[in-house]
Amino acid sequence: MWLVTGGAGFIGANFVLAARARNAARIVTLDRLTYAGNLKNLEALADDPQHLFVLGDIADRDLVGRLLREHQPRAVVHFAAESHVDRSIHGPHPFMETNVMGTFHLLEAVRQHWQGLSASERVEFRFLHISTDEVYGSLGPKDPPFCETTPYAPNSPYAASKAASDHLVRAYHHTYGLPALVTNCSNNYGPFQFPEKLIPLMILKALKGESLPVYGDGLNVRDWLYVADHCEALGQVLAQGRVGQTYNIGGSNEKTNLEVVHTLCAILDELFPDSPHRPHARLITYVKDRLGHDRRYAMNIEKISRELGWRPRESFESGLAKTVRWYLENPAWVESVQSGEYREWLELHYGSN
Ligand SMILES: NC(=O)c1ccc[n+]([C@@H]2O[C@H](COP(=O)([O-])OP(=O)(O)OC[C@H]3O[C@@H](n4cnc5c(N)ncnc54)[C@H](O)[C@@H]3O)[C@@H](O)[C@H]2O)c1
Repeated sequence: MWLVTGGAGFIGANFVLAARARNAARIVTLDRLTYAGNLKNLEALADDPQHLFVLGDIADRDLVGRLLREHQPRAVVHFAAESHVDRSIHGPHPFMETNVMGTFHLLEAVRQHWQGLSASERVEFRFLHISTDEVYGSLGPKDPPFCETTPYAPNSPYAASKAASDHLVRAYHHTYGLPALVTNCSNNYGPFQFPEKLIPLMILKALKGESLPVYGDGLNVRDWLYVADHCEALGQVLAQGRVGQTYNIGGSNEKTNLEVVHTLCAILDELFPDSPHRPHARLITYVKDRLGHDRRYAMNIEKISRELGWRPRESFESGLAKTVRWYLENPAWVESVQSGEYREWLELHYGSN
């Protein structure tokens, strides 16, 4: 049995759905359902007796302690976070609350529980902390990709809060012996991503014929990974990763933002030959750059490939085509996350949060 935090968010939901599909473990999902969390992401598990959704905060130690006692998970997989860089620039406070203090409270609850287990259960237990490449800062055009020993140099409040949480997890392993692992992953894309992030935002705007706002000169580089590949890597780290280690995960797919948007436009041109918005690339506009915008991220995935035999399955083009198809085939999901309907539904079911 696994306790998954943030399992109603983008990557968490993909992870929970994939894990349940292969019957990897019984899962309790703990999620506070912020604007980024969406129970509709887990709708396919509504009748799955091996999945339980719990509405709550990772900072609620009593609740986490109770879930640990009642369900006796063998692993805690920690996705819950505030995750959007732009939001962290405009309002960093929730990032510190959840990413730093929330992770701290979660670790404390887990430590207390773990210390009460039998010796063999303690050895078997895992705390898997999901983090980002952004903790490493920004690369110059010719720098080698980030590896696990690259010094941390977070540049945004989001990256700083994730770096702090990574350090806390490391310290709980070093100090208390908690069997923890950290993964740092590059930019994900795929089904269920909230349309504030680049790829779904551009897909949905292009379909409506709206302008496609690209920051600055559009030449910021990110290393893109299809979310299912990330989830597969996490499964392998959980099963075979060495405790106390960090694993970098990435797509080996470095693309400028402009390349990403052009590729998307080309896919849409092909899918909709009669669209009045064709060629979609003419919708591209340039907007004022994000404050402190990191220029380039890239991940060296040598360690996870060598130790665990993991490599991404999807190419950027195949992953992107799947993603576009998913957004086209799920208009009800798109509609619900963009309208007030989802918030109203939540209010009805759970009261305000
Ligand atoms: N999206 C990416 O490209 C990417 C890349 C690398 C790492 N990550 C990391 O992966 C994790 C998941 O990212 P994502 O893109 O799925 O994020 P997301 O914003 O889509 O989902 C976050 C989830 O956490 C929940 N949550 C937030 N605060 C909470 C709290 N206090 N208690 C309980 N639940 C809470 C939200 O309701 C939401 O369901 C994050 O830790 C993020 O830093 C993301």
